[in-house]
Amino acid sequence: MVSRVIPVEPFDLVIFGGTGDLARRKILPGLYRRFVDGQMPAEARIIAAARSENTDAAFRETVRAAIGEFVTKEKQDATCIAAFLDRLSYVRVDATGSDGWQALAEKMRKDVIHAYYFSVGPGLFGDLARRLHRFGIAGSRCRIVVEKPFGHDLESARDLNATLAEHFDEHQIYRIDHYLGKETVQNLMAVRFGNMLFEPLWNARNVDHIQITVAETVGVGGRGGYYDKAGAMRDMVQNHMMQLLCLIAMEPPYAFEPDAVRDEKLKVIRALDHADPAQIVRGQYLADEEGRGYREDVENPDSRTESFIAMKLNVSNWRWKGTPFYIRTGKRLRARTSEIAIVFKDPPHSIFGDQESHKSNVLVIRLQPNEGINLKVTIKEPGPGGMRLIEVPLDMSFKEALGPEADDIPDAYERLIMDVIRGNQTLFMRGDEVEAAWAWADPVIAGWEQTGDRPIPYDAGSSGPEDALMLMHRDGRRWREVKA
Ligand code: BG6
Repeated sequence: MVSRVIPVEPFDLVIFGGTGDLARRKILPGLYRRFVDGQMPAEARIIAAARSENTDAAFRETVRAAIGEFVTKEKQDATCIAAFLDRLSYVRVDATGSDGWQALAEKMRKDVIHAYYFSVGPGLFGDLARRLHRFGIAGSRCRIVVEKPFGHDLESARDLNATLAEHFDEHQIYRIDHYLGKETVQNLMAVRFGNMLFEPLWNARNVDHIQITVAETVGVGGRGGYYDKAGAMRDMVQNHMMQLLCLIAMEPPYAFEPDAVRDEKLKVIRALDHADPAQIVRGQYLADEEGRGYREDVENPDSRTESFIAMKLNVSNWRWKGTPFYIRTGKRLRARTSEIAIVFKDPPHSIFGDQESHKSNVLVIRLQPNEGINLKVTIKEPGPGGMRLIEVPLDMSFKEALGPEADDIPDAYERLIMDVIRGNQTLFMRGDEVEAAWAWADPVIAGWEQTGDRPIPYDAGSSGPEDALMLMHRDGRRWREVKA
């Protein structure tokens, strides 16, 4: 594979919350990888802004350590690291006061793109936006990047959108959903709209059902405070799972352009039926041998928050009426695996009689780990013994197909940050999309609150509560196994 890395324009990127966890684990190591690959131009500058006292030298050392921890050894080259660290500096700013802002303004060069990454709580978005304007560094070539959670319900999302809109045009606002930056998620669009093979079959006439699974082995870790107020519905379903569902269900956009794609996704969210409480299973992981379950992790012995959710959803439009979408996501499950499975209907009539081994065609799009696409097809078992059918995979693992280059696939964050600099919003959420997703999620959450619904306990290391299996069994279907 020939490297097609095209450097982006010179930029000044300011990361508010530049010493935080996301910056350390994802943003800065990702930028380093883009630098090594030659995508970040020599004139690019990265400025970390945070509240604590720090020096450029000390900040660079923390980034050196982060590169050591989060970048593969092959990419760690002393000369490259030194050249990258040279581009970094630190400014102490007070997001709610005026300290440090003049110094930041003086650092910003006039003739380059300005990108501001708000890697801070949403409560500070308005404060930061106002100060960028007050100190004259929010010109027309500037853009801002905001992280999830984008609100915790429709009302708060609307408020956030309104706050940002007071200061920036929609084309300057990049709402990150890092799932959209994953290689296979984009490949989903390439598979659907770059081939003639699938699209004619991509509808309720031919597809029996769709399964989306995002299973994690990790628990809530040190994020208990946030997570216990969010739960899987707010943390994963309203955003990542919804985005995956949209990309599968949407109509072909007229071009791979920001508004064309986002208009189509929005139509899907609006076509989603209200989720029926009887078709939702919530779960909460139990203590493991070390005695740490969800409630211990979040330090809330009576928590009613779900760390697992499975739901059956219906998209009410011409294409999908009658084909259910089953989605599930959870923490502390058996394996870390994310995949989308399109399960096709059986042929209308079997000329081979009833053969038990015959299974439906399934197209599996594996997001992680081992990204790839797998199509299960039925063939004749080779050799004598009559016409016996077997199922074989037509497998395209990126690793096998692309060789070592597949190890070099950029991480979602680094790809998305480069898109910010390029000014391409296709893989970012528009304000109305986020609001529509909350408008769908809110009544479901409100229902649980009203009825005092409690999640069902499940064993850590399992595939979630039994009831989630029943959700599909009732319909004569079954989940694919949660396995790595
Ligand atoms: C984040 C959620 O947005 O996505 C986390 O807040 C979750 O709870 C994470 O663990 C999953 O992302 P990935 O890329 O590891 O699948």
